[in-house]
Amino acid sequence: MLKLDYRNVKSAIIGKENGLELEQEFENYKTKISHIISDLNKRKDKPGQWLQWMNLGYNEETVWLVKEYASLVKNRFENVLILGIGGSALGGIAVTEALLSPYWNLLSDEKRNNYPRIFFLDNIDPDQITGLLDLLDLKKTLVNVITKSGSTAETMSQYMIVKDIMAKELGDDYRKNIVATTDKKMGILRQLADQEGYKTFVVPDDVGGRFSIFSSVGLLPLALVGIDIDEIISGIKDMDLALKNTDIFENIAAQNALIHYLMDTQKNKKLSVMMPYSSRLRYVSDWYVQLWAESLGKEVNNNGEKINCGPTPLRALGVTDQHSQIQLYNEGPNDKIINFIRVDEFENTVEIPKIFEYTGIGYLGGKTINNLLNAEADATKVALVDFERPNVTITLPKINGYYVAQLLYMLEIQTAIAGELYDINTFNQPGVEQAKNYTYALMGRAGYEDSAEALKEKLAVV
Ligand code: PA5
Repeated sequence: MLKLDYRNVKSAIIGKENGLELEQEFENYKTKISHIISDLNKRKDKPGQWLQWMNLGYNEETVWLVKEYASLVKNRFENVLILGIGGSALGGIAVTEALLSPYWNLLSDEKRNNYPRIFFLDNIDPDQITGLLDLLDLKKTLVNVITKSGSTAETMSQYMIVKDIMAKELGDDYRKNIVATTDKKMGILRQLADQEGYKTFVVPDDVGGRFSIFSSVGLLPLALVGIDIDEIISGIKDMDLALKNTDIFENIAAQNALIHYLMDTQKNKKLSVMMPYSSRLRYVSDWYVQLWAESLGKEVNNNGEKINCGPTPLRALGVTDQHSQIQLYNEGPNDKIINFIRVDEFENTVEIPKIFEYTGIGYLGGKTINNLLNAEADATKVALVDFERPNVTITLPKINGYYVAQLLYMLEIQTAIAGELYDINTFNQPGVEQAKNYTYALMGRAGYEDSAEALKEKLAVV
């Protein structure tokens, strides 16, 4: 299983001013945490609670449907193109980057075991879109358009552009090159998909975008490029079982949620840095940033009182950011908690040759890059402790579907528990919706005329 090392948040290690009396705090919060965990597990099956993501590891039907479709289209396409944004894209990006061979899209067909290349279009930069569409042969591309609401302007405009080109290039056959992942009944994409006859997958009810990686939103792209989704499912199930434990002394998601909550509310650590020491895990930070920010950044608590809460998540990459951000983390404001992610065993070991022995770099010869990476991670951790900066380390035994799924699921549960500690609605995003609605108004969507008028006045002054 994954391990969480929280020694470096204790006052005994980083001093009273910045550290926590952690064992005491675990005792203080034991009952509250136990209630939170039991309550989440009780509420998860109730409609409207937005907790259905806790059941995704047990959805055998989706796994079966995804695997069946992936095997049906295997060898038919050179490329998979994912159209989606936010929660509809970030999980897929994080997990494909972690589990596919590095530089996947540049590998030969043979090295990819004849699975397709995969591209995520999660922005609406005109230059990026043009560049990608120039590169891809859409006749040989399977497009998976993913949107829960079925109306997000960014995703739908990408879809319209791609569909138009495909229809011109492929005639009626273009329909076989599009698969839609959306709500089972609601939304414009659902209507269009039914009308046009696309293959569709369902974003389940009560699963928000940022918690949707283990639904068909994430599983389909993973299966299309040959990732073993059974391994992923078994990782979630085992982690889910472990995190049903209501004892804070045994539950790593509860421990890290409480640590972050106390660091924010008692020690003024308003920033949460996610820093994996693995390039393959770099986009887990992007996924975490959305999960933490959209879930915990809220104006009001559950009683409607204005609290404007939410620690700000930041991404960093070990060792790269040691030469960029660590100066700030060590000597700048002591306002952060750092989450290191370490990997015990990398797939590869790279030796540094014993050359230049009589020069200043001779000491590196005969060691491995793996030794160097671990030494640098240890050195950074100790330096942070010297500067009294709180940090925790999550360790994965290795990078595979089982452990990556555990990591993401653990962070989801951690977020849900943190939301309960802040006493907020973890699963809504009124701040995102507001900007989405303004965009609809500015782009002339029917029904948004009044907002458009009000907006024009505001835009004249801001
Ligand atoms: O987490 C969320 O709810 C959001 O980030 C959404 O995923 C994002 O706004 C995209 O929405 P949709 O899937 O409806 O296109």
